[in-house]
Amino acid sequence: MKVMALRSPIGLDTMQMEERPDPGSPGPGEIRVALHGSTLNNHDLGVAAGRRQVADGLIPLADGAGIVEAVGTDVTDFAVGDSVVSCFFPDWQDGAPRIGDFSRTPGDGFDGFAQEYVVRPATAFTLAPKSYDAVEAASITTAGLTAWRALVVDGKMTAGSSVLLLGTGGVSIWALQIAKMIGATVAITSSSDEKLERARALGADHVLNYRAVPEWGKAIRDWTGGLGVDHVVEVGGPSTMAQSAEAVRIGGHVAMIGGLAGYKGGLPVLTMMMKQARAQGLIVGSRRQQQDFIRAIDANGLRPVIDRRFPLERLADAFRYETSGGHFGKIGVEW
Ligand SMILES: NC(=O)c1ccc[n+]([C@@H]2O[C@H](COP(=O)([O-])OP(=O)(O)OC[C@H]3O[C@@H](n4cnc5c(N)ncnc54)[C@H](OP(=O)(O)O)[C@@H]3O)[C@@H](O)[C@H]2O)c1
Repeated sequence: MKVMALRSPIGLDTMQMEERPDPGSPGPGEIRVALHGSTLNNHDLGVAAGRRQVADGLIPLADGAGIVEAVGTDVTDFAVGDSVVSCFFPDWQDGAPRIGDFSRTPGDGFDGFAQEYVVRPATAFTLAPKSYDAVEAASITTAGLTAWRALVVDGKMTAGSSVLLLGTGGVSIWALQIAKMIGATVAITSSSDEKLERARALGADHVLNYRAVPEWGKAIRDWTGGLGVDHVVEVGGPSTMAQSAEAVRIGGHVAMIGGLAGYKGGLPVLTMMMKQARAQGLIVGSRRQQQDFIRAIDANGLRPVIDRRFPLERLADAFRYETSGGHFGKIGVEW
């Protein structure tokens, strides 16, 4: 079968398609999945560009979706022909988080989903949303579930809440769709006026160009009548955190998710203290949370925004496109 492999010295120019042995039939508790799609995340880019220490020959991509081809004995959750999507933490089924690294994340600690077939424990997948294709389903594994956990699981967001989203990447656009589904008012920032118009078309109530308005924290607070927002989905890191702390309301919630602008710099401890705001770090979520999210998707007919799709053999170009920052929502890879 065909796989895309990272080869030393790992980088976008050295990844290559290879033939590897077929994984065969599933054993007890396992399923065999014919994979057809994935989506790219910042984490995958870090792996593929050689910024993380991974094994020579590693198959990248944390997100994977496809069709069940065979089920082993003791598998009750799935049948042949089911559309399924992978879990970011295949060992975290439910309950409180216990994992603080990527050693058991596909496409980092071990082989990911840039390949034609896998045989894995059934518990490493969930059913995909009804009517999603493989690329759409794959966008749930990392970006979608992260946005869901930030707003719904950790944030306990309710209708009428106010939310601030930073930029128009995969996590933020999923968060925009989830927040509107629940009935929140949403402000979103971008470096591009054209992307802000697209966000408006998806339901954003207030848009702001963070390049044109460097003090966007106060501008967002002003938009809420001086109160501040209930939730911030913080994907920028320390260099945006000061503005996010300005934007959040007293007693509000900041989901600390990423470092698009780097991880160097201090945190606005005094502002967060005076605001008595809750900063909650998180990494994606559990399999149970993914199942809850997919139930909400099916009930509400939500569909992810897939900006562009690349064939698997052009994975390096897909990552180059991600590096350019030209995308809005998710970048898909399909085969
Ligand atoms: N903790 C977790 O579980 C988790 C899960 C997923 C992702 N992450 C992290 O979250 C971050 C976002 O991930 P993603 O997949 O959504 O990334 P992405 O799709 O690559 O997002 C790229 C977009 O982010 C925006 N951006 C870049 N720098 C910005 C800044 N200084 N301020 C505001 N927006 C900025 C830009 O939007 P515009 O073009 O509109 O300006 C850019 O197009 C990354 O750091 C990623 O590693 C964490």
